[in-house]
Amino acid sequence: MLKMHDVALGGKRVVIREDFNVPMNDGVIADDTRLRAALPTIKQAVAAGAQLMLLSHLGRPTEGEFDPRYSLESVAHALSQLLHRNVRFEFDWLGGVEMRDGDIVLCENVRFLAGEKANDENLSRRLAALADVFVNDAFATAHRAQASTYGIAQFAPLACAGPLLTSELDALGTALHNPARPLVAIVGGAKVSTKLALLESLSAKVDRLIVGGGIANTFLRAAGFEIGNSLYEQEMIETAARLLANGSVPLPTDVVCGKAFNAATPTRVVAVDAVMADDMIMDVGPQTIAAFAELIRTAGTVVWNGPLGVFEFDQCANGTRVLAHTIADSSAFSIAGGGDTIAAITQFDVADRISYISTGGGAFLEFLEGKTLPAVAILEQRAA
Ligand code: 3PG
Ligand code: MG
Repeated sequence: MLKMHDVALGGKRVVIREDFNVPMNDGVIADDTRLRAALPTIKQAVAAGAQLMLLSHLGRPTEGEFDPRYSLESVAHALSQLLHRNVRFEFDWLGGVEMRDGDIVLCENVRFLAGEKANDENLSRRLAALADVFVNDAFATAHRAQASTYGIAQFAPLACAGPLLTSELDALGTALHNPARPLVAIVGGAKVSTKLALLESLSAKVDRLIVGGGIANTFLRAAGFEIGNSLYEQEMIETAARLLANGSVPLPTDVVCGKAFNAATPTRVVAVDAVMADDMIMDVGPQTIAAFAELIRTAGTVVWNGPLGVFEFDQCANGTRVLAHTIADSSAFSIAGGGDTIAAITQFDVADRISYISTGGGAFLEFLEGKTLPAVAILEQRAA
């Protein structure tokens, strides 16, 4: 790949694809790790005298429709504060915007544009026309072949990798090349369908695969347990059953249940075979977390993506809290990634004791799985 470092940026229109897909809570940025991770690249480009246009997606809005819940405007304010300089927000930018050297413009959510997700050629060419130099620094979106991650890199006059993208690939590649064993992966969270397929191939590589959140519920269901009203995916039951059959997936033995999905719902710990039809499983129980902690303490490498429970609710945070502290305390080489995971790491204040924190969620897992990241592949092709 061509690297941003090796490209002259002064006076150029430089379009950087960022991943500013930060967790939002009622319009407020719940965790700004991805913004902070982008700062060194932005500062370098500005110092070089570039005219900077920053592109990102936020969430998964319906294409072709503006929806204020997915606006990047608050990210522009946050970036201005972090950079101590004005980051101008542009709502309407596809036709180009007025820029001077050293200006920083953040463009509204690329996913409001029809054709983004389908990597539409017309849209890709229009995006590419905005750039003298295209920089991809969005490791966390590198698993998506979309107009702002792939097509633009195809058609821009020059396409290169930003420092964050490069350092993620270097760090994770080094960490995973020859992991100290046992290798334990923890995969949790709510995005069940986007992760279960990955779990299948991860299970062949790791010594233990700990599942949590909605994913664990699907496994429990596959094992024949009542899970009441818990989040799960019927169509993934067969996959879960197959993974269970090969024996490397320890199931929860006790769980924390509530009757409603809110921060005030009373909860109780029950054995996994005592969940009732009107229960919702919202965390793992103390016996389960003790067993998981033992696996982590004896691991050589720990890979963590996704919380074990609804850690945003105090009464459902224990599993994820103990997990975070156990990983931090262990001597294993630990790598963690994913928006929710980073939020948990921040909440439980263990960031400085995790060996490497990736900004990627899905991209982090696909990399782990050995898949080619399309947004990286196109940069390699452009350099060939
Ligand atoms: C992520 O958070 O995983 C990336 O920003 C990609 O978002 P997506 O899963 O909606 O494509
Ligand atoms: Mg994702």
